[in-house]
Amino acid sequence: MGKVGETSGTTQARDAAAFVEWFRAAAPYIHAFRGKTFVLAFGGDAMLREDFVDLVYDINLLNALGVHLVLVHGVRPQVEERLTSEAHYVRGRRVTDADTLEHVKDAVGSVRVDIESLLSVGLPNTPMAGAEIRVASGNYVTAQPAGVVDGVDLLFTGEVRKIAAAAIRARLDAGEIVLLSPIGYSPTGEVFNLTLEEVATQAAIALAAEKLVFILDHGETTDAKGRRVSRLTAAQAARLLRDLPDGDMKLYLPHAAHACKKGVAKAHLISADVDGAVLMELFSHDGVGTMVTRQSVESLRQATIDDVGGILSVIEPLEADGILVRRSRERLEQEVGQFFVDELDGRIVGCVALYPFPEAGAGEMACLAVAREYQRGGRGDALLAAVEDAARELGLTRLFVLTTRTAHWFIERGFALGTPEDLPAPRQAMYNWQRRSKVLVKRLEGA
Ligand code: ARG
Repeated sequence: MGKVGETSGTTQARDAAAFVEWFRAAAPYIHAFRGKTFVLAFGGDAMLREDFVDLVYDINLLNALGVHLVLVHGVRPQVEERLTSEAHYVRGRRVTDADTLEHVKDAVGSVRVDIESLLSVGLPNTPMAGAEIRVASGNYVTAQPAGVVDGVDLLFTGEVRKIAAAAIRARLDAGEIVLLSPIGYSPTGEVFNLTLEEVATQAAIALAAEKLVFILDHGETTDAKGRRVSRLTAAQAARLLRDLPDGDMKLYLPHAAHACKKGVAKAHLISADVDGAVLMELFSHDGVGTMVTRQSVESLRQATIDDVGGILSVIEPLEADGILVRRSRERLEQEVGQFFVDELDGRIVGCVALYPFPEAGAGEMACLAVAREYQRGGRGDALLAAVEDAARELGLTRLFVLTTRTAHWFIERGFALGTPEDLPAPRQAMYNWQRRSKVLVKRLEGA
């Protein structure tokens, strides 16, 4: 089998190569997502967008890949459109009087029918061809009145009391998509108006979902300075929230963080303004939105035999550029115990090795590498610090490194230029005079 894109430099071949590469990169996620429960929430605004059908296509694709999907929709604009009098809000919550509740019921019914109809499309020239999606909806959400807030009775505005997780799971196991609306029923037969974010969050928690995904109608997944926020822990999210301007990011982020604290593996915020954003977020390593997890998805640790492939993918480009000396896969397998790796959300993005020479009280640091896309962010420094710690623990007092092209980086970090004579005897014997690497030495304080 030839490599796609090698034969000619035409756009077509390049497109094909990109397509194949993208598809292969998505494979691990396709495996990982099958049979997992995702709760996907979007506001009533999403449905008013012309490209809403694209989101439906992506939902169809997730369903086809065996993801257990719970959809939660909103109805805010649809309710507002129906209201004849001004809505009253207390602390951001609408007061739902009996009249408003009728409009809510009306809007929910109509929106639900629209979503069900879109998911029923089976036209041959759409991604929905052959789909046959079944949608289940019903009284899965039990609600209670929100009560009196700041002296105002919120009336039919409610809170989630219980999610019928077992009943929902039965539908999901039968291959159906479950559609939840922002309303709930009380044991006395009353109907309450809920927020979609609360329904989605509570459903994700009750189902111990793998993912809770919020689609943002307004604004990007950026911090107060407009920079994209790719990954956050729940604690970092709380800090970021303090300066965030009003918008969907500010609205959904606390719910995302709360869900993670309550056992949802990952929560994602995705801007609706980017076409295909859901697929890019879910099927690529860095996504396009913001991912929230309870704990950091990055860790620095000792390497194991399973990391050999990941280490190779990091060092191969540097070997090709002549920055690192080429090592064989066999050698790497033998020496992997000397390596530390930086693992970011399941992928090895950096590595470093420490070869101790205890008789000389010295250690060689080698193979320090960080994959190009992840170079900014202090990862090199963190790897260096890990090696220094490990060396100290072994009682070593000197760390040395051989390099041809990156001496300045080490000098900035406390290494001094030495000579091959500074190397421990066994290492001197192996010194490659042709390569003429610079020898850099650092004294380890506190060893
Ligand atoms: N596709 C992966 C997942 O869904 C990673 C997503 C990373 N997203 C991000 N915003 N960093 O778990």
